[in-house]
Amino acid sequence: VTASAEVRVPVVVDGARDYVVAIRSGGLDAVGAHAVDAAPAVRRWAVVCDDTVGALYGDRVRRSIEGAGRPADVFTFPAGEAHKIRGTWADVTDRLVAAGLGRDGGVVGLGGGVSGDLAGFVAATYMRGVPVMQVPTSIVAMVDSAVGGKTGVDVPSGKNLVGAFHPPVRVVVDPETVRTLPRVERAQGLAEAVKHGAIVDADYARWIGEAATDLLGGDVDAANRLVARSVEVKAEVVSRDERESGLRETLNFGHTVGHALEALSDYTLPHGSAVSIGMVLEARLGESLGWTAPGTAAALAAILESVELPTAPTGPVDVEGALGFMKADKKVRDGRPRVVFLERLGRVRVDGGSWASAVDEEALRGLLSSA
Ligand SMILES: NC(=O)c1ccc[n+]([C@@H]2O[C@H](COP(=O)([O-])OP(=O)(O)OC[C@H]3O[C@@H](n4cnc5c(N)ncnc54)[C@H](O)[C@@H]3O)[C@@H](O)[C@H]2O)c1
Ligand SMILES: [Zn+2]
Repeated sequence: VTASAEVRVPVVVDGARDYVVAIRSGGLDAVGAHAVDAAPAVRRWAVVCDDTVGALYGDRVRRSIEGAGRPADVFTFPAGEAHKIRGTWADVTDRLVAAGLGRDGGVVGLGGGVSGDLAGFVAATYMRGVPVMQVPTSIVAMVDSAVGGKTGVDVPSGKNLVGAFHPPVRVVVDPETVRTLPRVERAQGLAEAVKHGAIVDADYARWIGEAATDLLGGDVDAANRLVARSVEVKAEVVSRDERESGLRETLNFGHTVGHALEALSDYTLPHGSAVSIGMVLEARLGESLGWTAPGTAAALAAILESVELPTAPTGPVDVEGALGFMKADKKVRDGRPRVVFLERLGRVRVDGGSWASAVDEEALRGLLSSA
């Protein structure tokens, strides 16, 4: 057994709430040590996870925390986005109260983005807020949702509409957990990782394409490398955003069109697939407007195809419906949707000091009807 070195990526919030993302194979067994180190005042931990992840890793995490001298219990809820709702929040918080978790308690969000968002929101609200530690086990959660502090639940009229900003005290990533992650879920997470490459690091984006077989197959070394670079990119963007507001918007690349396609499908199109198509279409739009280097959309599409993500809608797009969703977005200016454009692979276009550009409806209509 080779003990791999731990990669530590710092995330700046506001000084007092800065935290570290610790990435290492076998990291699940170090959750207890991290818990005591990051939140020494927490006397007892509640591990909140969905039942799938609970069955796989709940006991191991609980034992790691108990081994570090703190009692811990596992609280599970049914897996799936359909359970990232207020009812589950109510149920879990009731169970924490019944178990006697006090103000000196803490929450571990163990699992994919659903578990992390729900556990984070439980922690943000329980006893007016207790510390949360994030232990992501899906690629989506490792490269995206566990970093940045956004927590919350879905409501009938929309996703993530009720929530709180509650940065974790520590994020512990064990890339070995990707071994049990279904292949389609690995691919979903790779969409956001390709996005990280597309906005700041072309070599990284190309490497994902080259390492596709390993990444999709659950190879731990490849996962380690992926998570380390993606966390670096996301941490850098959200950290710098604390000072120069707006940089976070670059993470929206592929999402203006992607969100519209996702909503149009009534959320049957998974988020990663929607963003994958969105990135290619937004790059193509940028090329047609003369803002994005020719060939960028094709290069992105080749990478995304190699990681088994879709790069075009499966059928004709309801153009007016899609435009409706884009114009309902909160980022719209003068009724013109805002899109993050690439100057080329690895670089975002700056438009008059802004990371996104307002786009005429006609241009979007043209793009979507030809898609
Ligand atoms: N807070 C943020 O900034 C942010 C960012 C991106 C996404 N999100 C949220 O994340 C959610 C999507 O996350 P997700 O794709 O991880 O979904 P998820 O949590 O539902 O996980 C996907 C599936 O994989 C299973 N799973 C997770 N890890 C596993 C493992 N190691 N082995 C076997 N099975 C495993 C889960 O049980 C689930 O069935 C959405 O709700 C989205 O809104 C939040
Ligand atoms: Zn996304």
